[in-house]
Formats: sequence, structure tokens, C-alpha cells
Amino acid sequence: MLITIEGIDGCGKSSLHEALAGRLRDLSPVMTREPGATWIGDQVRRAIAEQVDPIAEALLFVADHAAHLREVVRPALADGRLLISDRYIDSRFAYQEVSLSGFLPDPPGWLSAVHNGWTIIPDLTFLLVLPVETALARTQKRGAAEHFEKTEVLTKVQNNYLNRARAEPGRFVIIDGALAPETILNFVESKIRKRAGK
Ligand code: TYD
Repeated sequence: MLITIEGIDGCGKSSLHEALAGRLRDLSPVMTREPGATWIGDQVRRAIAEQVDPIAEALLFVADHAAHLREVVRPALADGRLLISDRYIDSRFAYQEVSLSGFLPDPPGWLSAVHNGWTIIPDLTFLLVLPVETALARTQKRGAAEHFEKTEVLTKVQNNYLNRARAEPGRFVIIDGALAPETILNFVESKIRKRAGK
């Protein structure tokens, strides 16, 4: 079973992901992420830092996704494992629809086409939503900002996420990211256990 956690920068998804590893230890979940901990992931981070051409950046995110599927996701699913990914395909549709706007005639159509036929859609996606200003205040505490971390960009990114969630209500669970971390953790843990039948 493939579970993903999504949301804008500073929404709290990485802390939730980390806490779930402890809470769900008895299920031996494969804890994974995009961009990945591989050399392709390193190039993605470099592309973000150097603000390369948005099409080049998008293709690197897609390359990272392809490697992630081959090296981590497919083998784990074949073994019947539970996977929990911090960011996955919806990050591309939410962020690259914004970064590619003005560079391609139809960013969502292009993103669909580039993933079509080989990606694996998650079984369940938790989307953490919170006011953009609150999220940005959290990221600013961490230091250097990535080029995505601007009010205008993240507002559009969050709207894209919400539109995707509305289009696929059976897959998405929307969570109020302003709730106490413990409350969110308890809720997500119980949803995953229910879905996994454990
Ligand atoms: P990440 O390392 O997850 O950063 P954070 O821990 O701050 O969430 O992701 C780095 C940035 O890359 C983040 O701003 C979101 C962006 N991103 C995309 O634009 N597209 C993608 O497909 C992915 C996976 C991430």
C-alpha cells in the first residue's frame, strides 16, 4: 500500500512523516521521499538552488520520480510492504503547474503526459493545509528560502493541491495543518491502520 503526505513548504509534513515512522514501527513501513536520497535527488536540489530553466527543473523532478519508482516503490509494493512517502506525484502537479506557467502552453496536460503509463497512483494521500503566512513563518525559521517559498507561489501551489483533492475525494484526506502535531499524528495513524487492516 502506498501512502503519500503532501502540502506546501512549512505545512508540517516532514515532521509528521518522521513521527509516523515511530508510531507505525510494528508495521515496518518503508519511509521514503521525493526528491530522493540519491544522486538524482541531489541534482534536483542543485537545480532548485541554482534556479535552472523551469522545464529542466521539472524533468529532473520527473527523473527522480522514475528512479524512486524503480528503486524503492515497485520493489516494496511487490513485497507487500507499506510505503509512506514525504512528497510524491501531487507535488509535481501542485508546484510545476506554477513554475511552468508561461514556459509551456499547457503545464497540467504536459505533466499528465510525462507521467502517463508508468507512474503508480497512491492509495491514500494526506494533504496538510494551513494559511500560507503561517507556513512561510515556519520555513523562515529554518534559514535560506528556496525559490518556491514565496506567498504568491505557495498560495497558487496550495490551490492546485486543493483542486486535486476535490477531484479525487476518495484518495485525498485533507488535514488542518494548524492543529496540534499530536492530534494530526493520532488521526493519520488511525486512518493508516484502518486502511491497512492493522
Ligand atoms: P523538499 O526537499 O520536500 O522540501 P521541504 O522539506 O521544504 O518540503 O522539496 C524541495 C522543494 O521542491 C519544495 O519546495 C517542493 C519542491 N518540489 C517540487 O516543486 N516538485 C516536486 O515534484 C517535488 C517532489 C518537490
